[in-house]
Amino acid sequence: MSIKIQPEAIASLRGFELPERLGFGTVMAPVMFRARFQDGRWSDGELIPYGPLALDPAAKVLHYAQTCFEGMKAYRNGSRVRLFRPERNAARMAHSARRLCMPPVTESLFLDGVRTMAAYCANLIPASSGESLYIRPFLIGTQPDLSVTASRAYEFYVIASPSEAYHAGNMRLWIEREDSRAAVGGTGDAKVGGNYAASLLSVSRLKERGYDQSLWLNPGNRHTVDELSGMNFFAVMDGALHTPALNGSILEGITRDSILTLARELGLEVHERDIDIDDLLKLVESGTCSEAFACGTAAIVSPISELGDDERRYRLKQAPGPVAERLRAALLDIQEGRADDRFGWMQAVDVAEN
Ligand code: COI
Repeated sequence: MSIKIQPEAIASLRGFELPERLGFGTVMAPVMFRARFQDGRWSDGELIPYGPLALDPAAKVLHYAQTCFEGMKAYRNGSRVRLFRPERNAARMAHSARRLCMPPVTESLFLDGVRTMAAYCANLIPASSGESLYIRPFLIGTQPDLSVTASRAYEFYVIASPSEAYHAGNMRLWIEREDSRAAVGGTGDAKVGGNYAASLLSVSRLKERGYDQSLWLNPGNRHTVDELSGMNFFAVMDGALHTPALNGSILEGITRDSILTLARELGLEVHERDIDIDDLLKLVESGTCSEAFACGTAAIVSPISELGDDERRYRLKQAPGPVAERLRAALLDIQEGRADDRFGWMQAVDVAEN
């Protein structure tokens, strides 16, 4: 496929300056990648200036939430720009699209999109450890039609945001015993906007109580731990690493998978299993569960200092704990180019001359 680079996109890159404070996901690169699906096929992609989308008010995405997305990062190490396991994001986005009856973006179009953004935004990639170019590919159903049927027209975009990590410091989690974020047989293992919308009320309630994130329980049994909103959960018990097994309502995190690989390499005992929340709280109370952390593309590895259950607070013995710190360092060392890419996770991008 050929990619059209609009001259206006290059002009907007030339006039762009990075602000001093980045935060997460608030500073947007001045270009974006777009491709359209019409009459059963994808168009070539193009790099265009970043700006508002023109959507018909009856577009399916606005009413029936036909939208899925990905989160991934490009890293700069000297003059090298590299992506982390982008083919895994392409595969997961195809899975999410199928679940919402959307045509999957082909792997080559997806990779064209993220590689083009990384190549043209190379100068915007912050170089401090923990910072990166956060890349957000997304797919939307655009056909204007209020019948509850799949859209016949779609747009695929890739936007990017020079960012710091999503969460800095320890997190306090609130155990969400009332609401569910996803249903059994629903969309919990797909990265779709609706899952995140369903998490917002819980998050606004827990903020009032002084917590940072919800810990979601399995929607089927209401007793085993699933994940956080946008991060997978890990706990260290008697030195072994435990994480909820993939069960259809948990997102298959690419960082989760990488952490499991690194933990095994470090010689840790690893268990993917159902974790009963009441058992977990008892183990935290006794100190057998000495640390817990969450991980995700945006969050990297974020230590958990406390679990809140109704009026009770359960404090983790170590936050950040040594296991979380070792795993975070091992992951960042590969991503940021200080360690050998022994698992073949990094993909080099040819930087474009703007
Ligand atoms: C990510 O880690 O990339 C996510 O998608 C989480 C989030 C910021 C929604």
